[in-house]
Amino acid sequence: MTTRYRVEYALKTHRRDQLIEWIKGLLAVPFVLHSQPTVVFHEESIRLAAVATATQQRYAEIMRDVELLIKDHINHNNRSLPGKSKLKLLVPTVGHFFTPLLLEDAFIYQDQRRHISRRRFVAPSFNDVRLTLNTAQLMGLVRSSAIRLLTFDGDVTLYEDGCCLDGDNPVLSRLLRLLSQGKKIGIVTAAGYTEPSHYYLRLKGLLDAVKADTSLTPDQKSGLIVMGGESNFLFRYDQSSPHLLSFVPRSEWMLDEMHTWNDKDIDELLNVAEASLRECVSNLSLPANVLRKSRAVGIYPVKGKKMHREQLEETVLVVQNMVERSEVGKKLPFCAFNGGNDVFIDIGDKSWGVRACQRYFGGIDRSTTLHVGDQFLSAGANDFKARTACTTAWIANPAETVQLLDEMFELESEYSKGE
Ligand code: IMP
Ligand code: MG
Repeated sequence: MTTRYRVEYALKTHRRDQLIEWIKGLLAVPFVLHSQPTVVFHEESIRLAAVATATQQRYAEIMRDVELLIKDHINHNNRSLPGKSKLKLLVPTVGHFFTPLLLEDAFIYQDQRRHISRRRFVAPSFNDVRLTLNTAQLMGLVRSSAIRLLTFDGDVTLYEDGCCLDGDNPVLSRLLRLLSQGKKIGIVTAAGYTEPSHYYLRLKGLLDAVKADTSLTPDQKSGLIVMGGESNFLFRYDQSSPHLLSFVPRSEWMLDEMHTWNDKDIDELLNVAEASLRECVSNLSLPANVLRKSRAVGIYPVKGKKMHREQLEETVLVVQNMVERSEVGKKLPFCAFNGGNDVFIDIGDKSWGVRACQRYFGGIDRSTTLHVGDQFLSAGANDFKARTACTTAWIANPAETVQLLDEMFELESEYSKGE
């Protein structure tokens, strides 16, 4: 492996989402051909408006074509002919879609809010495409089937990194509304603790709000669960428990394949990961401590210090590589990720976590489940793994989660009026 290859592979491929980059590239063509950088605004505003309308049309046409390619990709996958999908040839890393994506309508929706086609100097960006994909996914879900389960990542998705879900967080009223609609909520977080008290500290605002809400029925309240350590510890909302959560024994929710995960292999995998983490701490002189748990091992900064992104990413890639190359790494699923200021290796991953939530609620389908998270790059990111278990939305901060839920409520009410 040459150095050049390693740089391309580790620092470029994994740090980009190929579907988004590809769509961005398609939209760049009309942007280049139609943008009018030399026009002076107030002099020629009528002409500019006409150009914006034409540009919007071009962008929307491209989105419609991508929408059709995705439909074709879904058809090929359903007929077990993934190799014949044209989209797969164009974007080799593309995965499964569990519903159609309504990209043309979603683009118009986002364009009305972000005025993408009115811009003359800044081409359609990564965030424009990411948000359009989120809207297209919501539209696909709302129009093709009802959403029954929403799973949320914790840090950065529901609250700021390393913080807690407090009583004044605007997402709370939206989560209560989801429960009142009879939807199920799973908080699928990497944070792995065996004691309900730890989750109560992180999620106090939500748990207290559910308790205090007298309009929710006990059945609706039981629609709230917390899956910790990616896929390792399940808790259900329990009004009678001091921390409002009760531990659910593994036998009640484990997926069949999880029965082969034995303690010896788990220990062995964590040993490989821990040795590799310690090597990184020493090689890179990281100001970090190692933390070993029953189902995870990680490093976190010593008090008052921070690690920089490159150190965290290097550590994730080294450890991931070492574990993948070990015998036990081929037997047991694991997830190595950069938590912003720490690195953790967990047994299992969020695809298992989401699937276990689906099973716990009696077998909810992938096409009626939405996972919302902030980590969707293919290396060093843990929400990415959920893509094989359900539909997903990629948000960048907690405010976007609130916006996404409001968008969903709006689309649902429009759809029910139109029916
Ligand atoms: P998430 O964004 O909700 O998935 O939470 C990830 C964060 O939880 C990590 O960055 C860590 O700071 C913290 N954490 C605490 N315990 C664990 C663990 O056992 N595994 C992984 N992350 C953990
Ligand atoms: Mg997160």
